[in-house]
Formats: sequence, C-alpha cells, structure tokens
Amino acid sequence: MKEEHPASIPIRPRRIRRTAALRRLFSETSVGPAHCIAPLFVQEGTRSTSISSLPGHFRFSISDLRREAARLARRGIGGIALFPCLAQNLRTANASAAYNPKGLIPRTLRALKKDLPDFPLFADVALDPYTSHGHDGVLNPSGQEVDNDKTIPLLIKQALVLAEAGADFVAPSDMMDGRIDAIRRALDLSGFTSTGILSYAAKFASSLYGPFRDAVGSTQSAGTNSLDKRGYQADPANRRAILRDALLDEAEGADILMVKPAGPYLDILRDLRESTHLPLAAYQVSGEYAQIHAAAQKSWTDLRKTRDESLLSIRRAGADIIFTYFAKDF
Ligand code: PBG
Repeated sequence: MKEEHPASIPIRPRRIRRTAALRRLFSETSVGPAHCIAPLFVQEGTRSTSISSLPGHFRFSISDLRREAARLARRGIGGIALFPCLAQNLRTANASAAYNPKGLIPRTLRALKKDLPDFPLFADVALDPYTSHGHDGVLNPSGQEVDNDKTIPLLIKQALVLAEAGADFVAPSDMMDGRIDAIRRALDLSGFTSTGILSYAAKFASSLYGPFRDAVGSTQSAGTNSLDKRGYQADPANRRAILRDALLDEAEGADILMVKPAGPYLDILRDLRESTHLPLAAYQVSGEYAQIHAAAQKSWTDLRKTRDESLLSIRRAGADIIFTYFAKDF
C-alpha cells in the first residue's frame, strides 16, 4: 500500500520563522531607544527621592536630573518629558505656580537646554501637579466640575512659560475642549512658531495613573486615591467619541497625537493610525510599568521579555514614539 505523503500542506507559514536569522530577516517591527521618551520627575532641593510604586525612578533634584538627562541623551533615547513634584504648600486653587516663569519646570528646562541644546524636551501642559485639589483645571463655583473655559487661559499662560524656557514640544494632557487651537494661536502670536504641540488627544480616565499621581503628589492633594477625572478624560468604553476628539486636535493644529494609556488601548492607536498622517505617540503609563514590574518581582513573568513585548506591541499597533518608564533600560 502506498503511504500518504506528509507534504500535503503546501503553504507553511513556519518556513520564515525556522531559524533566528530568518526571524530577524522577516521581522516587521522594531523598537529601540530612539523611539522612546523618558518621563522624568523633578522636585526642589538638593536631594532626589525614590518613588516606591515606580521601581528605578526618582523625584530628581534639578542637578541630579541634569546628569540623568545627559546619560539618556548619550544612550540615544529620543527625548525626555518633565513632570514636577511641588511642595503641597505651593499648590493653589488656580495653580499659580504652573505659570510662574521662575517655577520648577521652567528652571529645569533652561538648565537642560543649556546642557543639551539638541535633546528634545517635552513639557506637560496641565494644572494637576499645581492645584490644591489635584484636578487638571480650575473648579467651577460649586466645586463639582472642572471649568473648561476658565482653565484655557491658564493653560495658555503655562504653555507660553514652557515655550519661553525652551520646551521643544508643549504637551497638553488636560483634555479641555478647544485648548489646542488656543495654545497654537498664543504660541504663534508670541513668536514661538517652532514650538510644537503634542496633544494628549486620546487620554482615557484610566485606573492606571496611580503611581504617577503618587510621584507628583496629586493623590495627596486630592486626599483620595480615587481622583475622579471622568468629567474630562475619555470613557474607556468609547471608541467613536475619542476618535472624534482626537481628530479635532489634529484640525486645531496639533503636531503629534497621543494615545494614553497604551497597552489596553492598542485598538484606538490602530484606528488613529488609519485616520491621520500625523506622527503618533503612545504613553505606556505608570500603572502599566508597575504591573509589569510587580508580576516580575513575584517571578510570575520575565521582566525583560514582558517589557520588550509590551513595547513592540505598541509600535506594531502604530506608535512612532513611546513615552515609557522603561526608556532608560535600553
Ligand atoms: C496629568 C497627567 C497624568 C499623567 C500624565 N499627565 C495623570 C492624570 O491624568 O491623572 C499620567 C502618566 C502616568 O500614569 O504615567 N495631566
């Protein structure tokens, strides 16, 4: 009896992944330091302090941060994003420290620009590290809601201060309506035509911002760790609503659109990739980093492999650049 020839499977996808060399040859996506932006925290004083929910990260003093930035630049990281941790007594209802030209972030930006003139610097436009209540804008008289139109003039002042201090990109992360248009006009009128805007365009009201809020102290200001931002950040259930919002930011003049968080929102990233020709950023947020670390600490997963897979997946979904607390691991 003639034996059935096993080769009755003419199409074999495994042929291109048989060996390491073939896998390398057919790899469709890559991730490296040049794609990554490192978020860094800065505080007043001469001491840096560790952040327990963000292993390996610190609230740096300005001078330690300058050294860290120089190391990152040398390692080929794409740029850094700055976030302040302010003393609680400097926080006010209208976030006045956010638009003080001699404030913590402007001084840090000036120092960094002097040290590293070509290293891309991103500075957040949002009031939460500066408000006594931890919200991203000023509250209306009832204290129940963030007032969109009263917040925008303050965001403009903050953006101008950051641009003047040397930010290459200002990054509104507040989710107010109309702020991209307002900031773009104000920058242009003041001569900052080369300062770009990275819009946190698709920013969801996520449970994954906890370690960040610890780091900048907005949990402490709010006096609760369930700071509710659903009145301005997007509903995790909604795809159409956030695409509409993000494309509006493009129409208003954003240079880069961001999706945040990254890992649980790769579908949004892919949708946006197919709807715009702008560069896209994704923010792998503090809670994503903390989850990967925590599982690895228990030896339930392998840190390096989980990290690399998470970053690769974000690139594959369509991100050009990734804000990630893993940046310096490269
Ligand atoms: C606030 C801001 C947040 C993050 C970046 N900018 C937190 C928030 O909206 O409460 C979070 C980043 C992270 O979790 O890593 N405007």
